[in-house]
Amino acid sequence: MNFNDAALGYDESAFAQKRCAVELVKMLPNENIASFIDVGAGTGFASVEVLKKFPNAKALLLDKSARMLEIAKTKIPCATTIIADAEVFEFSTYNFDLAIANLSLQWFKDLGTFMTKVSSHAKYFAFSIPLKGSFKEYFDVFRNVKYPDIKLYTESAILDIIQQNAKVVSAKRCIINETYPNAIEAARHFRNIGAITTVNQQIQSKIAARLKAHQTPVMISYDMFLCLLKSPLTIQH
Ligand SMILES: C[S@@+](CC[C@H](N)C(=O)[O-])C[C@H]1O[C@@H](n2cnc3c(N)ncnc32)[C@H](O)[C@@H]1O
Repeated sequence: MNFNDAALGYDESAFAQKRCAVELVKMLPNENIASFIDVGAGTGFASVEVLKKFPNAKALLLDKSARMLEIAKTKIPCATTIIADAEVFEFSTYNFDLAIANLSLQWFKDLGTFMTKVSSHAKYFAFSIPLKGSFKEYFDVFRNVKYPDIKLYTESAILDIIQQNAKVVSAKRCIINETYPNAIEAARHFRNIGAITTVNQQIQSKIAARLKAHQTPVMISYDMFLCLLKSPLTIQH
């Protein structure tokens, strides 16, 4: 993936991310949120929504991509930003009322370890993640080509991971579809949001050939799981 290159045009293409940020924030508890961390914050969609609901909350935006955070900072000048890999980031000195991760966890190598870490440092954890089966029609364009799709989980696999770490306060599914006139336009959507994985030359040319050949409409379907967790640990704030 190349989120740095995508940063400038991201907001115009990230329709599912924007919609999920709104839906996720609707699930937040009514009790006050004084501080939060936005994990894989990107250009700040989720943080902007959290701040609409809790205008005085102290915001920490963390992302691997410096350029994504630069754009987020223009929208939320008072936020603190940290360029870091969330999976290795040391949370030890921090305690938050809320951690939020909107469409970023699908890129993590070890979701279970991250869940344990975040649940020890945040009272609530709200996240959205695309489930297994998302983007099926698009991936079908590349049947029998070693297309580098991301590892997606079923809802029950995610609930299994969660049960070891936290209590589910609420959860919902949300399907977001967008249809593109052909496969090249659909591929452009993923490129515009940075979700393109590097492949070798041989696979790249097979992918290009499939894209060119597929001239009929392709639907990109995000089958989203949105969830609010409460940490079982008592956190002093
Ligand atoms: C699809 S974007 C979502 C951005 C944002 N949350 C939103 O709602 O638009 C995924 C973001 O996660 C970030 N990301 C992926 N893996 C990460 C990691 N291990 N640590 C920090 N950021 C990560 C990427 O850099 C990218 O900005």
